[in-house]
Amino acid sequence: MQVIPVTAVHRGFGQTARRDSWWAAPLGVFLGLSAFVVYATWAAFQGEHYHFGPYLSPFYAPVLWGDSPHAWFGPKPDWWPALLPFSPALLILPFPGGFRFTCYYYRGAYYKAFWADPPSCAVGEPRKGYRGENAFPLILQNVHRFFMWVAVVFIAFLAYDVWKALWFTNPATGAAEFGIGVGTIVLAVNVVLLASYTWGCHVLRHVVGGRMDEVSKSPICDTAYACVSGLNLRHQLFAWCSLFSVMVADLYVRLCSMGIWTDLRLL
Ligand code: FES
Repeated sequence: MQVIPVTAVHRGFGQTARRDSWWAAPLGVFLGLSAFVVYATWAAFQGEHYHFGPYLSPFYAPVLWGDSPHAWFGPKPDWWPALLPFSPALLILPFPGGFRFTCYYYRGAYYKAFWADPPSCAVGEPRKGYRGENAFPLILQNVHRFFMWVAVVFIAFLAYDVWKALWFTNPATGAAEFGIGVGTIVLAVNVVLLASYTWGCHVLRHVVGGRMDEVSKSPICDTAYACVSGLNLRHQLFAWCSLFSVMVADLYVRLCSMGIWTDLRLL
């Protein structure tokens, strides 16, 4: 058998033999994720204008405590620290936020875009050592498998919010009437994209594919595995589409609530 000797080349930070626009993808990720983090943080701390009629912003769903009719347990609780501004989103966002932060796709994307580790494939990085995700603190990324279960439950909550967004209060009678507004569609599209992202999770693929070291023999699991694998192939696409849609859904509800935007009733 022929042996081809290979010499490892150590490049300085940013050095590469690549001639393509390798920097474009990490730059896009840096700008996209930065914009999302800035907007989501701002929106989470507002604590108001997160509901309008039957609509509820996905950043605030489900509302555990708050001043909206969507709140499960009533208004702001007494135990809330006085120094911390109250917003129902602060109780909710750590879960979907943690799910995204630990997602395998996002990890690969932001390690390159924010930490330059490396900036891109075959491009020199600023560090010499490599510890991977087997040591603290990155070993904590394994918590993703637990966040996945929470995210699946959140999809059910958001789907229920779409159902509630189909029922508008008649101002004359006070009765709830079936209807569809542009906001209903915005919320529904958001849930479909979020579900497509969540159900394409690598962890879920392993869960439905079988047990440890054993592929499932159940036809139901085979079908589920095929569906999850299909979504997983487009995981990057749904990761970005759902990131965008959740922001748009919050903005839509917010602008309607502030009276800046008028929700159009289609039915
Ligand atoms: Fe991306 Fe689980 S790997 S959501």
